[in-house]
Amino acid sequence: MIKKQHAKAAPQGFGTTAIHAGQAPDPTTGAIMTPVYMTSTFVQSSPGVVKDDYDYARSKNPTRTALESNLAALEGAKHAFTYSSGSAAMDCVLHLLRTGDHVVLSDDVYGGSFRQLDKVFRHMGLETTRVDMTAAGALEAVMRPNTRLVWLETPSNPMLKVIDIAAVRAICDRFGKSSAKTTGISDKSMGPLGTGISAPILVVDNTFASPYLQNPLRHGAHIVMHSCTKYIGGHSDLVAGALMTSDAALAAKIAFAQNSVGAVPSAMDCFLMLRSTKTLHVRMARHCTNAMAIAQWLEGHSKVSKVIYPGLKSHPQHALAKKQMRSGHFGGMISVVIKGGLKASRRMLERVELFSLAESLGGVESLIEHPAIMTHASIPAAARAKLGIDDGLVRLSVGIEDVADLIADIETALK
Ligand SMILES: Cc1ncc(COP(=O)(O)O)c(C=O)c1O
Repeated sequence: MIKKQHAKAAPQGFGTTAIHAGQAPDPTTGAIMTPVYMTSTFVQSSPGVVKDDYDYARSKNPTRTALESNLAALEGAKHAFTYSSGSAAMDCVLHLLRTGDHVVLSDDVYGGSFRQLDKVFRHMGLETTRVDMTAAGALEAVMRPNTRLVWLETPSNPMLKVIDIAAVRAICDRFGKSSAKTTGISDKSMGPLGTGISAPILVVDNTFASPYLQNPLRHGAHIVMHSCTKYIGGHSDLVAGALMTSDAALAAKIAFAQNSVGAVPSAMDCFLMLRSTKTLHVRMARHCTNAMAIAQWLEGHSKVSKVIYPGLKSHPQHALAKKQMRSGHFGGMISVVIKGGLKASRRMLERVELFSLAESLGGVESLIEHPAIMTHASIPAAARAKLGIDDGLVRLSVGIEDVADLIADIETALK
């Protein structure tokens, strides 16, 4: 008989959950790895009689079910949903809203997230305000009676700002209570699908931290979002996204939108992600120790004017990062301002050899990029300048190679 003791996450360590949650030996063969169910449909024994709700693979696929259970366990969520990209996961959340709704976005986010709101959903009648959520009173000042969604990234991309998730949730709740009184907004008016939540929904993009470093639901987020293309995939070989929530009503609305819009990942990508989450804790620990060593070394470098890394005491939200993120670990992303502006940063980016000059992040190999020209080009120049994304800014995704080799590579490129 094939034991199934690992099918559900028990209270256990992160590594054990990462390796076992959501997965049981294949009932037909005992295969220890979840098979890749390459099928678009499932045979019914009589019209409408299906096994475990499997009727069509856009709606449900067994490899995806295993992955979604695994990801839910890693985020401490009751439900998870996966997508063909992180952007598709965001799109699914935005489909819960309706024309005239207002979204507040943290000012420093992945350029594509801003672009989706600014260039796609704006034309469908969603209003967006960007605000620095690390500044006291700034979020309260932009909330409106029609604010339905607050979307933040922490640590943010690329300035690595750390936002207090619990404090933002408290603001959403306070605002929900007071606007329900003054405007009559009720649970039922919350989006065309109705979510049963009267306060604005708080979504945290947890891509930079990964579930290993931070579980936003524990701090009050209603929904956690990931670009699984990054640390969850971890090997730069797939594009995918995920949403997690513990709210049953929200989960039902998300499931409906996921199936209706249909931007789901392939069974093969689900299999690859399941393989990847088994090493998430090991990879993340190494990303973090490598990044800390590089950040400390760069802080003393004569060709560098600023190092931004939440693990450094010089980071403005270092104390919050220590509290909110897994203690002693601050992620694999570092942003650095190179003295000499575009000319100097371009020269450095052309000279690195071990670091690859490429967009994206979170893979086992180290990547480096220029946010103003590459990942954040879709943010208007004036807004970029205000955020501090200047021409000397370079973003490092520190991989899990030997740190001495990584430091030697940067040193040679800076010389
Ligand atoms: C923080 C963050 N969120 C979302 C996305 C979008 O994810 P994807 O590229 O998987 O669509 C990215 C992509 O770089 C990102 O860095």
